[in-house]
Amino acid sequence: MFGKILNIEDAYVTLENASHKLDANYLNFHVVFPENNRAVVGEIISMNEQTIKVFLVGEINNGVFTSGVIKKPNFNSTPRLVYKSEVELLLGSQDISSKDNLYVGKSVNYEGYNISADINNFFANHFAIIGNTGSGKSCGVARILQNVFYHNDEAMPVNSHIVLFDAYGEYNNALSNINNLPQMGYKYFTTNVQSNGDLVNIPAYFLEVDDLALLLNATSATELPILEKTLKLVYIFKGQSSAMVTYKNDIIAEAILDLLSSGRSSTQIRDQVTAVLTRYNTKDINLNTPIVQPGYVRTLRQCLNIDNQGKMNAVQYVVDFLEKFQKLNLTTIEVDKSIVYDLDDLYYALEFALISEGMLKSEKIYDEYSQLKTRLQQIINSDNKKFFAPGERRISKGEYIKRLFMGPKGKVQIVNMNLNYIDDRFAKVLTKIYTKLFFDYATLLDKRGSFPVHIILEEAHRYVQNDNDINVLGYNIFDRITKEGRKYGVILGLITQRPSELSNTALSQCTNFIVFRMFHPNDLKIVSNISSNVSMETIEKLKSLTSGTAIVFGMAFKLPLIVKIDLPNPMPKSSSLDIKSVWYDSEN
Ligand SMILES: Nc1ncnc2c1ncn2[C@@H]1O[C@H](COP(=O)(O)OP(=O)(O)O)[C@@H](O)[C@H]1O
Ligand SMILES: [Mg+2]
Repeated sequence: MFGKILNIEDAYVTLENASHKLDANYLNFHVVFPENNRAVVGEIISMNEQTIKVFLVGEINNGVFTSGVIKKPNFNSTPRLVYKSEVELLLGSQDISSKDNLYVGKSVNYEGYNISADINNFFANHFAIIGNTGSGKSCGVARILQNVFYHNDEAMPVNSHIVLFDAYGEYNNALSNINNLPQMGYKYFTTNVQSNGDLVNIPAYFLEVDDLALLLNATSATELPILEKTLKLVYIFKGQSSAMVTYKNDIIAEAILDLLSSGRSSTQIRDQVTAVLTRYNTKDINLNTPIVQPGYVRTLRQCLNIDNQGKMNAVQYVVDFLEKFQKLNLTTIEVDKSIVYDLDDLYYALEFALISEGMLKSEKIYDEYSQLKTRLQQIINSDNKKFFAPGERRISKGEYIKRLFMGPKGKVQIVNMNLNYIDDRFAKVLTKIYTKLFFDYATLLDKRGSFPVHIILEEAHRYVQNDNDINVLGYNIFDRITKEGRKYGVILGLITQRPSELSNTALSQCTNFIVFRMFHPNDLKIVSNISSNVSMETIEKLKSLTSGTAIVFGMAFKLPLIVKIDLPNPMPKSSSLDIKSVWYDSEN
């Protein structure tokens, strides 16, 4: 069939169609150009009665295929179709029950052949799964995870930790059976507060400044010191030790002194001090504390009385009384970090932090920071509060993560977080808080990468975006992980129908891609930009792939391949609407 080489231009070789016939469909089959001690490999991308066009994809040297062609074939070499024995070099090992190989699916071009990836090259790197709605992403992910756990006769991945953020609650059906396998564990958490299931839970005391900033929608870095102060104060207000009581007195005294010297009208000052002391008081400082002057005792409240001249006559006694409490430098205070607190406690502390920063005195400060308070109040008033319940006893983050991956039978490998019942903004915050938790944990391990965590994000474009986080926190956790996560064993799997909406950094740091059907020119362009060895013809093919068929490429694959992924068994619960069964169901 193949005649001589007519033309070589870039990575394209044009061959003579020696038979001048189109009797067989060789499109997408591979052609080998044998050379002295190597063989150049190309893919047939188009043919007509005169010519056959081949895209060069790699070389075979000593029985090993490497993608990329350094030296083009000689004009006098005689091309031939790839031998059966060579196909495995291109498609990956056919031994799909080996623990070294990840079975992905069946080859579309080479009937009867499997496509597999080197498991290390696949799961040691970030990956992206892209395609239009309904193109087969969720089924593909479910099936690949099933393959990891079922297609493995040698050994089970007991020390894998996969966290799936399941935007539509689809995966429970497909993955819960993994729990029945020996040595394997699967856990499911939900955001449906009405259900009996375990709720997604991050104890309130885990929330750090950055987490609070995300949760409370901080819009500028200037809000961070308030949150820092809040976190300091919550321990002081909640702590029972004598040191904490002393601190409490000091900071209340200071805040009241501040109000007394604010220069506002007597009535305003009286009302504010009364309001603050009603909510924030100790046995030493409260509205009924006796203020003793020689021969005369009045309560603090009485000292705030205003005479008919509009003056607070006895205010100096209050000042004298409060000044006896020493002034504190919050930054040097050692707090007892073993206490448990909840969102209400945080609110109490935040409110006080705002008062002590002058919120009651300055409208500017009020305007700048009051939304933090409002937002926290909204969360407390909503069902979302339930996700931050602290539990009885304080546990460390390390203990929390260990428990997360521990079940009644022992180790748990897959944790599924169903985020279907919360709004996008809140879901994004939760995924970020979790992701940071895993990343922080991984960076502190003595042995780097000894506790790999795979974070798989459905609808990743909702979470991994070019956010304002950079301006507020100085980083975006997802960008940080895409850049630094690999070396600590924190790996992202991004599933998305909108690659163009994903943060630029994230996609460019992915190493492996499974791309299902896609139409939009912007998305196609992005896919062609991320890989140098995917031909334009292959990109074109993305438009017409059937559901469940994908083009895979990246480090774990020898070259871009078209794969038909098996349907998962059991299936995920589909997120697509079944009109027929609803419209015509008389029971409904
Ligand atoms: N591997 C597959 N083989 C055959 N059909 C598939 C396959 N994957 C998906 N489909 C079909 O496409 C539908 C949508 O798949 P799904 O994975 O939910 O798409 P996506 O997550 O991309 O929106 C499935 O309900 C199924 O009918
Ligand atoms: Mg889906």
